[in-house]
Amino acid sequence: MPGDPDRRTLLSPRPRADEQSFELSLRPRNLRQYIGQSRVKENIDISIQAAVKRQESMDHVLLYGPPGLGKTTLATVIANELGVSIRTTSGPIIEKRGDLAAILTNLKPSDVLFIDEIHRLHPAIEEILYPAMEDFYIDLMIGEGPGARSIRMQLPRFTLIGATTRAGLITAPLRARFGIIHRLEFYSHDELAVIVRQSATILGVDVDEGGAVEIASRSRGTPRIANRLLRRVRDFADVKADGKITRSVAVDALALMDVDIHGFDDIDRKLMMTIIEKYGGGPVGVGALAASIHEDVDAIEDIYEPYLMQVGFLDRTPRGRVATRQAYEHFGIDMTGRQRKLF
Ligand SMILES: Nc1ncnc2c1ncn2[C@@H]1O[C@H](COP(=O)(O)OP(=O)(O)OP(=O)(O)O)[C@@H](O)[C@H]1O
Ligand SMILES: [Mg+2]
Repeated sequence: MPGDPDRRTLLSPRPRADEQSFELSLRPRNLRQYIGQSRVKENIDISIQAAVKRQESMDHVLLYGPPGLGKTTLATVIANELGVSIRTTSGPIIEKRGDLAAILTNLKPSDVLFIDEIHRLHPAIEEILYPAMEDFYIDLMIGEGPGARSIRMQLPRFTLIGATTRAGLITAPLRARFGIIHRLEFYSHDELAVIVRQSATILGVDVDEGGAVEIASRSRGTPRIANRLLRRVRDFADVKADGKITRSVAVDALALMDVDIHGFDDIDRKLMMTIIEKYGGGPVGVGALAASIHEDVDAIEDIYEPYLMQVGFLDRTPRGRVATRQAYEHFGIDMTGRQRKLF
């Protein structure tokens, strides 16, 4: 049912309000449970161990990458591994300088302050962070008018962890103040299968290797989607197959939900078909593409493009987006001579 809101968000990597407690119950607590992202994990592990050994606060960390890949999860894992508290907030929530000042002055030594969507911080508020991150102080204005004065407050040494889906929107001065910067990557099918089995254990669901791999391979490289599909396939298995998720049960369940082998949704298909049919395979600019399919540019750049590029259906060239040979093959369309020459 294309108009069904549940159907429209089934494959979205963005969080859903009705899934908050479900996600929380599945969230890894330590590095061992945090699957994949091996390069990032190794680097972070060393930083954590070094900080613990020296009994110092850890360097500030910036995590970026598409939604649902585990940025918030990794921030809580880091705090747990450091054995400190984490205070969580987000860029658009902090409205006044005083809001951030209150948060900062309430931190305890070595605590983690997690700022989600850090690219959406108000510029005046972002400026407070510069000395706070670099030299651990803030200047507070007391009073108003001619009697106003500024007082300097020393802060405990803390670790700021910032998360964003758009590294390109972080200002240069803010970015420069992070000692550790990592991009989270899409997960392989094998990694997602491990996550599916780990989640199944927590949920008390019986899933075999074939079932886990089937769910994993249709999850767009994204743990949030893998967990969501697992939950939906479990419902199907409970009703139709005595609760056990095998490969064939997963295949039937996912077919019923209209989830294809790549986890493509209607917008992916519309986007690719528009490039191929309306723009002769490209190149086409993202603005024109967004207008053609009535989607916003942000959603295309944050969600659709990264995954379509990851699976090799879309390429970004200096002149715009182009559909690849693989995309033509998938949609069963012949390439013209001109398009073939593009590759
Ligand atoms: N490495 C991982 N291993 C196991 N499960 C994971 C991992 N990363 C994420 N998850 C699962 O995926 C869910 C979504 O992850 P998380 O909320 O951390 O994503 P995010 O990158 O912060 O997304 P957003 O950009 O929407 O804030 C988590 O609740 C967790 O259950
Ligand atoms: Mg998050």
